[in-house]
Parts: sequence; C-alpha cells; structure tokens
Amino acid sequence: MKTPNMLEAKKRTKDKVNILYDEYKITKDMKIGTNKTYHIKTYGCQMNEHDSEVLSAMLEEMGYSKCDVMEDADVIILNTCAIRENAHNKVFGMLGRIKHLREERPNIITCLCGCMAQEEVVVDEVKKKMKWVDLVFGTHNIHRFPILLNEVAKSKEREIEVYSKEGDIIENLPYIRDNKYKSWVNIMYGCDKFCTYCIVPYTRGKQRSRRHEDIIKEVNDLIKDGVLEVTLLGQNVNAYGKDLYDNYGMENLLEDVVKTGIKRIKFVTSHPWDFTDKMIEIINKYDNILPFIHLPVQSGSNRILKLMGRRYTKESYLELFNKMRDQIKNVSITTDIIVGFPNETEEDFKETLDLYEKCEFDLAYTFIYSPRVGTPAAKMKDDVSEEVKKERLERLNKLVSKYAKKSNDKLLNKTVSVLIEGVSEKANDIMMGYTDTNKLINVKTDKSNIGKIIDVKVTSSKTWSLDGKSV
Ligand code: 5AD
Ligand code: SF4
Repeated sequence: MKTPNMLEAKKRTKDKVNILYDEYKITKDMKIGTNKTYHIKTYGCQMNEHDSEVLSAMLEEMGYSKCDVMEDADVIILNTCAIRENAHNKVFGMLGRIKHLREERPNIITCLCGCMAQEEVVVDEVKKKMKWVDLVFGTHNIHRFPILLNEVAKSKEREIEVYSKEGDIIENLPYIRDNKYKSWVNIMYGCDKFCTYCIVPYTRGKQRSRRHEDIIKEVNDLIKDGVLEVTLLGQNVNAYGKDLYDNYGMENLLEDVVKTGIKRIKFVTSHPWDFTDKMIEIINKYDNILPFIHLPVQSGSNRILKLMGRRYTKESYLELFNKMRDQIKNVSITTDIIVGFPNETEEDFKETLDLYEKCEFDLAYTFIYSPRVGTPAAKMKDDVSEEVKKERLERLNKLVSKYAKKSNDKLLNKTVSVLIEGVSEKANDIMMGYTDTNKLINVKTDKSNIGKIIDVKVTSSKTWSLDGKSV
C-alpha cells in the first residue's frame, strides 16, 4: 500500500524526469475483461476528461467494453477532481450510491482515481470507512492501472497505490477519443505556480513538459485519423518548455503545430504571467491558431491578487488583455474568477466587477472560494459569511450573462467559421458545432456537413449559444 502525503507533494526537486516510450504494456494475463463492462464517471477539468479517455483505452485493451449505465457495469471508475469542496461532495455522494450497488452485486470492482486520490485526507477516509472501494490510484501512476486492476480482480483484495511525487513521463499511453473531429493533446503535466488557493500543484506534481517531437508526432497521427482540431492541454501552457529546453517555448511549439497543417489549434490554460508579446504575434499570424484565449484573472483587487500569489496586478492584466483585444483579430477572451477569497471586502469585490466591466469578457467561469486542506490560503482566517459570498457570486454572474449576450450579439448577421460536430439535440435537421471563437452554435444545414469546417451566417444570438445557417 502506498498513500499520499501533502508535504512530499509540495516538494520540488531537480530530479531528472525520464521519458519512457515502452513502459505501458498489456500482457496476455491482463486480458481479463472479456464479456465484462466498465463505466467511468469523470469530474473536473479537461485534463481529467483526457485521462478518462486513456483509462477507457486501457480497459478496452484488457477486453472490457463500455457500459453507459453505471448500475450494470462490472468495473466502476470515479475519476475525481479536488479543486473545490462541491467536487468532493459529488464524489462522496456517488461512493454512497455505489455502496448500495455493491450490496446487490458484490462482484463489482470500484476504483477511485484522479486528483482526490492524491489527497491524504481523502485516502485516509476511504481506508477507514469505505471498504467497498477496491482500488485507489493517483494521477502519477495512471499507466499502472491495468496492472493494479488485474491484481485486485485476481486477489479480491483492496489495493491503494498513490505516489506523492510525480514520476516519469509515459509516452505510449493509448486513448479513445470521445469526439471524432477534435482531440486533446497533453503538452505538459503539473504546475509550479502554487497560487495560494490551489490544490493542483500538490495533486499533479511539478511542471513537466513533453518533448516537442512527441507532441508533433501525436498531432500528425491525429490528422491521419481525421482529426481537424487539437486543444493543447496543460495547467499553465504558456510556461511550456521552460523545464526542458533553453530555447524552445510555447511560441515555437505553436509554430511547429501550425506546420503539421492541422486545421484548428487551441490551447488551455494560459497564465497571464507567462504570456509574451511573441505569443500574440504568432496567434495573429496563423489562421489555424484560433482567436480564442482563456486567461484566468481570478480577482480584480491587487490586494487579493497578492494574497492569491498570482504575480500580476489588475493594471498589468489589463495591459495584456488590451494588447490581445487590439492585436488579435476578432479574439474571444474568457476567464476564471474566484469570489469570497478570505477577507475579500466589498471594495475588493467591486474592483473585480470594475475589471469585468472594463474587459467585457466573452465568458467567465465563476466560483466561490473553497478552502483546500494543505494550501496556504486554507490557513487564512476568513470573516466573510457564506451568504455574502453567494450574493457576490450572483452579482458577478449577472455581469457574466450580460456580456456573454453582448459578445454573441456582435456576431449577428456575420459569417463565422464553424466545425460541424453532429446533429443537435434540438432537431434532426439542425447540426451543432463551435465557431472559431469557441462559441456553441446550432446550424441549419445538411448532415453531410458533419466533420467539415463551413461558413455559417449567424441568424440569432442568445446568452449561451448562437443559431445560424450555412451559406
Ligand atoms: N476555490 C475556488 N475556485 C478555485 N479554483 C482553483 N482553486 C479554487 C479554490 N480553492 C478555480 C480557479 C481556477 C479554476 C480552474 O478553478 O478559478 O482557474
Ligand atoms: Fe492552480 Fe495557479 Fe497552477 Fe492554475 S496556475 S493550476 S490556479 S496553481
């Protein structure tokens, strides 16, 4: 048994990160899934969604097939998120449901993985109180999942294997894409920013970039497989390469991905600290880099930004923001904001509203601050009531809706480029897709356009989506 430790997870060492190309293997004795099924519940960010695609592929290589109904599956996996308390609660609620299911079907194998599995408090609770959880593994040893599952299935004994410290980069992991035309591509793992509220540097380890050759090979393989759009994934993509190369960064990687000829390139998430002028220039220079940037600001108050350890001010954020708006044609900029950080005053909060009014973000993901055990902010005393926090979130969300609608209205009667992904839930002759600025759009067009990037005239605009017809 190996359990996580937050103090270990916090350490950053200069230890070499090895890149392994044949670490992952499915041997004959691991093909235990014939006539058995699996069900994965994924919580949290794109990184987790992509990890679930990896877990699916591993399970299918072991012979399991996918089952859409959790209650009928033989192996249930909860791929969890630790970023806020409500993500935790959802998982604990689901574990309660699985407990009852296990009483009816004792042979179910329950697995817990992802960021919650990296938390000491969670693993302690599972160990003490949740006998029906059979396998716990973390974010650093996802490649060992088939071996561990095989052991648990054969021994019928519980296995907990979570490493506190990040390991090597495993290059040969398979994945099954949920989307035929779009794919996530990890470009780096972990984060070294240590924003004071955030658990990610502890659950995902130190920043480790993949070699650019490996990323480009993956993109080329995806193109061969019919993929039109890649989203380059990392917690802090603008710092790509800094841990690995002296002279190769995100700008270089973007240019190399452009050269593959892939039709659309996106990247998330950006930290304002590492966003260079050169990046703006490159986004503008190439048509296949989409004019869409997710640039979390978190707060508009310099006092709070300092307490959050964000390393920029409201003024420097605005300077960068305005540069992007001025220099990147038709750019769409979205953000993340936390309200109710410890001791956030009404004045601080008004600074956030003021910043929002100045930026008129295309969209924002807004959250009430949630203390995470082991992070510095969790030790700060907090005198803001839950009620005030909720009220602030509501006030902020009104602005989010107002400017989301305004940003969509600007596209009315304009022609936009859309990747048509499939039939919309609305009607059989309406297709759904995303514009180059990452806006959801329902398009009146023929089914034969599925999997194509087409020109669409926007005919109506709503707060969270657009309607249009092909031209
Ligand atoms: N409480 C609330 N929101 C958080 N986020 C990260 N940590 C916390 C926390 N402890 C938000 C940030 C981040 C997004 C992914 O989640 O806004 O950008
Ligand atoms: Fe968390 Fe900050 Fe790293 Fe983002 S940059 S993952 S908010 S520590």
